[in-house]
Amino acid sequence: MHDPDQAGAELDSTAGVPDITAGRSVSIAGQWLAPGRVNLIGEHTDYNDGFVLPIALPQGVTCTAASGANGEVRVASRQRPGAVVTWPIPEIDDSESGDAVGRVRHWPDWARYPLGVAAEYLRRGHPITGVDLELDGTVPMGAGLSSSAALSCSVAVALRDLFAPGLTDAELIDIARTAENEYAGVPTGILDQSASILCRAGHALFLDVRTREHRQIPFDLERFGLRLLVIDTRSPHRLVDGEYARRRAQCEAAAATLGVASLRDIATIGDTRRIGEPVLRRRARHVVSENLRVRQVADILGAGRDPREVGPILTAGHASLRDDFEVSTDRLNTAVEAALTAGAYGARMVGGGFGGSVIALVDARRAACVTGVVEAAFAESDFAVPHAFPVVASAGAHRVE
Ligand code: GLA
Repeated sequence: MHDPDQAGAELDSTAGVPDITAGRSVSIAGQWLAPGRVNLIGEHTDYNDGFVLPIALPQGVTCTAASGANGEVRVASRQRPGAVVTWPIPEIDDSESGDAVGRVRHWPDWARYPLGVAAEYLRRGHPITGVDLELDGTVPMGAGLSSSAALSCSVAVALRDLFAPGLTDAELIDIARTAENEYAGVPTGILDQSASILCRAGHALFLDVRTREHRQIPFDLERFGLRLLVIDTRSPHRLVDGEYARRRAQCEAAAATLGVASLRDIATIGDTRRIGEPVLRRRARHVVSENLRVRQVADILGAGRDPREVGPILTAGHASLRDDFEVSTDRLNTAVEAALTAGAYGARMVGGGFGGSVIALVDARRAACVTGVVEAAFAESDFAVPHAFPVVASAGAHRVE
């Protein structure tokens, strides 16, 4: 087990990457980009069959890919200077032996994502004759912004265009997610990969995880003089340390107590009072109330109303993650409180929790002031300097060249 974001990309990389196609016969080449994400609302709802509302970030991972017939998958990463991992396709292919996941232990941590995606294509019967992949990216690592999903999805879209053009978006999302779950050993839901593949520029993605139905909701803050700030608290989050899996198990136990397949099936917060065990009751209350918040925010934005109206709902989502789901931290709480003190309309932690980033909805002209107040609060508490930056809703995974 390892940090999922270690395989992703980091900001400001200047390291060189070897020309891994030198001397090889290449038939098709191109470059694909898959973005990281930030979730406006809908945290820890995806593995409860609920609702999510992410946007794609301008930051992403690029995969420069060249297909050939050399019988190998070869991967290099600009964030791993000098390291080139080459693996013969018959050893990745477990469509007959069912053994590829067991071989993961031979792969370096960072390469488990791209090789896992390749293995999953093979397992599903899509032949890969040979491919060279060069990865590079700008999603901050460990910031809860899905650098690992950006990585998996960039490879998944590249391999689709090169080897399996008929693949649907839903299959692509499943392949990227399986690579993370089984090969990298990170038990994510489907939020991050869905956001990276399905999001559109200028829109938030409303996704019903159970039915996979989704719709694009206009999200143009500039028109309202607003800005969405991401504040990376520089305290890396980890999904693999057991807490995330524990929350999943608690949600399943809560659903079982209520006699439903998943907490998605619970319509009102009042229903969660039937759970006797106080921790499970709080976990369920978060999930049920968060699903309601997603739909409220989607309704407000979908009707073209002023996005300032969603501010208090975002802040209520933070309180629920902090008090009922217990996945927030002092740094995340400090960032949220300081942003609100400085005039943010709403603020909340994003992603799985236990570190990572916060979002704040602010007047564009107050963005610098909010950043300053958060930085001062961090200095006061002796926390490392946070990194705040504005984001706009950007395009999902696509071919760049
Ligand atoms: C992580 C997981 C997602 C989702 C979020 C919490 O980002 O990868 O699947 O569960 O946490 O909403």
